[in-house]
Amino acid sequence: MPEIVHTKAELRARVASWKSAGQTVALVPTMGALHAGHLALVKQAGDHADRVVVSIFVNPAQFAPHEDFDRYPRTLDTDSAALSAERVDLIYAPAVEEMYPEGFITRVAPQGGPASGLESDARPHFFGGVTTVVSKLFGQVRPDVAIFGEKDWQQLQVVRRMSRDLDIDVEVVPGPTVREHDGLALSSRNRYLSPEDRAAAPALHRILTESAALIGHGAPIGVVMADAREAITKAGFTVDYVEARHALTLDPIASTHDGPIRLLVAARIGGTRLIDNVPVPRG
Ligand code: PAJ
Repeated sequence: MPEIVHTKAELRARVASWKSAGQTVALVPTMGALHAGHLALVKQAGDHADRVVVSIFVNPAQFAPHEDFDRYPRTLDTDSAALSAERVDLIYAPAVEEMYPEGFITRVAPQGGPASGLESDARPHFFGGVTTVVSKLFGQVRPDVAIFGEKDWQQLQVVRRMSRDLDIDVEVVPGPTVREHDGLALSSRNRYLSPEDRAAAPALHRILTESAALIGHGAPIGVVMADAREAITKAGFTVDYVEARHALTLDPIASTHDGPIRLLVAARIGGTRLIDNVPVPRG
């Protein structure tokens, strides 16, 4: 089993000893309930640095009061067992009081840019919670590299922008989305799907991929996205959004000439909210 520490002081002591030996450090931030998608990021981290730290922290700041913070799975034992099969040097699993001690008042909050719309429409405080905890994790671990999954594409772009805006010297590296054999993106929330909803869920990725191919072949974006919304609804989902955006700035996009395009979706089925995204192939 990799060593687990729960305090900043223990974390800093480990990282300081590595750094004084001239070693580099990669961080994989997670909220636990680890699956093969997380483990792929952990493997990737090992290619980028001498030492790998995995943080496990269910961050209350990114959940609204009505969301699933209390229900979010906390499985530290099985998570550390899963990580023992990987090259991990340290698991950092702070308590909420360690991360947000009495008197904590400062937040990092993106205003606009890649944080505009999409996830922010349904979850207005979400990215403020993410950037607050990620900037704290970067300050605590002081990694050279941090790996973030493409599964959460908007989060990846928001974190990149935050690092740039705040001059945080951490290289943010994207990790490809890991999927089930039928295309469903792995997610800790997939466990909430009923068998019927699980059977319907791969439609999300399939429709997105077909839409991306059509746009790549020159079909009009507006028409393709309207059809995608209809098809996803017919498959049994309630659509929060399904949009074509500039892949990096996440600005709304009207034409394939406007830059690399990403299609992003969030949709609910039987009380479970799923998100996914795919690139539009360059024509
Ligand atoms: P969590 O949902 O636990 O995800 C941790 C990391 O795993 C994120 O970078 C996410 O994009 C990535 N990930 C999740 N599913 C994936 C999949 N199927 N394939 C590849 N990567 C995947 O995202 C968070 O936690 C939090 O917001 C966090 C960044 C830790 C801040 O609290």
